[in-house]
Amino acid sequence: MPIELLLTAGPTREPIDHVRFLSNRSSGQLGLAVASEAVSRHWNTTLLLGTGGIDPPAALTRCCHPFDTTDDLQSLLGIHAPKCDILIMAAAVADFIPRQNSGQAKLSRHHGPINLTLDPAPDLIAQIATQSRSNQTIVGFALESSDTMESAARAKLDRKGLDAIVANPLETMGAQTISAMFMERGGDAIAADPDLSKTQFASWLLDQVAVLHERRVRGVSSAPP
Ligand code: CTP
Repeated sequence: MPIELLLTAGPTREPIDHVRFLSNRSSGQLGLAVASEAVSRHWNTTLLLGTGGIDPPAALTRCCHPFDTTDDLQSLLGIHAPKCDILIMAAAVADFIPRQNSGQAKLSRHHGPINLTLDPAPDLIAQIATQSRSNQTIVGFALESSDTMESAARAKLDRKGLDAIVANPLETMGAQTISAMFMERGGDAIAADPDLSKTQFASWLLDQVAVLHERRVRGVSSAPP
């Protein structure tokens, strides 16, 4: 049976009014590289892709479902996550969502200064991790400062209840290459060769994820005795 992969990539966009939004610099490029690699391995791939990033290549359009807001992404995850074997959550999801209390279609400068109230966004991957089955593998991403990358990613992995996390430095955003680590819960951190292209990294990452998933399905823990 082919692996059912659910992958998220790209940014969320949170409306401030009908014409403005809060977003981030994620392009979704790394997620697209992972999706392309998964398709070439004949994994049944579903890609949830932020509309604010780059367009998917033609080979991915059939498996691609666009999202705009965190709420849209949460709805799509609700449909697709229960069916997947592996979730890789590379999307750059909002941390804060503007509270829309102005009632105006377009905030006007002529009304003087405004204050935006930002509500914390729901932690989508943490919610999924609490509901996941033992034969599902949940993998997050963490973009961190290089000096504290490993400890910050490890803390995030534990706090969110994930099976693994990909730790990568802030410099990855918008870069052509990546120097990242794969960290399993209760296991070691495995560093990829430095400065891999995103395509090379995608292949390395799916190797790590496939090995972890196989071990989880067989019920073998990587944690030391
Ligand atoms: N994530 C999520 N829902 C959010 C924010 C993040 O599911 N509202 C997921 C991301 O897709 C990623 C992982 O959580 O797989 C880590 O994202 P990150 O932004 O680094 O984590 P935060 O919880 O936002 O932590 P921080 O306070 O460092 O921003």
